[in-house]
Amino acid sequence: MRDWQKSVLLSGGPRKSQAIHFDQSHLAAFRDFRPTLSELIAAYPEARLLELGGGRKPSFSLSELPGNIASYTVNDIDPSELARTADEYDKACFDVTGDVSEFEGQFDVIFSRTLIEHVKDGVQMHRNVMKLLRPGGVAFHMAPTLYAVPFVINKYLPETLSTGLLYALAPKRRHNRNKFPAHYSWCYGDRRKMQAMLEGVGLRSIRIRTFYGHAYFEKIPLLRQVDRALSNLAADRDWSALGSYAHITAYKPLT
Ligand SMILES: C[S@@+](CC[C@H](N)C(=O)[O-])C[C@H]1O[C@@H](n2cnc3c(N)ncnc32)[C@H](O)[C@@H]1O
Repeated sequence: MRDWQKSVLLSGGPRKSQAIHFDQSHLAAFRDFRPTLSELIAAYPEARLLELGGGRKPSFSLSELPGNIASYTVNDIDPSELARTADEYDKACFDVTGDVSEFEGQFDVIFSRTLIEHVKDGVQMHRNVMKLLRPGGVAFHMAPTLYAVPFVINKYLPETLSTGLLYALAPKRRHNRNKFPAHYSWCYGDRRKMQAMLEGVGLRSIRIRTFYGHAYFEKIPLLRQVDRALSNLAADRDWSALGSYAHITAYKPLT
């Protein structure tokens, strides 16, 4: 057993004092989602936005939309989710991996928050994003990534078991009934792997920001310690394959 493996198992961390820097943590993935998106949107004078899988909870309320927005369309596959969103939004009910020809080339900025892991065919989703974007448009996604331990469990555990487990660990989620089946198709933390796939689809100027750690095991002492130690080590070494969340930014070329 190597030294770092011993320290992970025995001390609860590779170095006791070492913790994930906030900017690298899962909390920053959520904190920085909207500011990062706002910066991207600012580059388009009359931005046409499409939020994929926005469901019942679009990322921007209409009152706080940046001033340069020409339109904001919220998509979801599930009409009952879209029905819970205010009628002032433009709504588009379709499967992001299905036929998107009706909306082809219409958007400057396409974004999603915790959608990708629910999609059965990640590559097809990114191909569709390419179709939906105008030339020079940008896509921005935030998603949980493999191989962070809770998401590996969620991927491989039968849906009824993973739902029960999640609701036990996070009772608020039971109340909101917002556990959707997750497939994690092309939800890898590994930046090189993701970059190659996205380039294969035709996207360019790809940036992937990796985040580490999560709060799913807070109520399970031993597992929490071991997992936290592993996350700390991964963050320290920037082992993106063990990242827990990613911000993915990618552009459709002008020509
Ligand atoms: C975890 S929720 C995220 C909702 C919202 N983005 C948020 O951050 O609160 C995932 C959403 O994606 C939708 N969804 C799942 N698969 C989809 C698909 N193939 N096409 C479009 N929407 C999908 C679900 O119906 C659900 O509303």
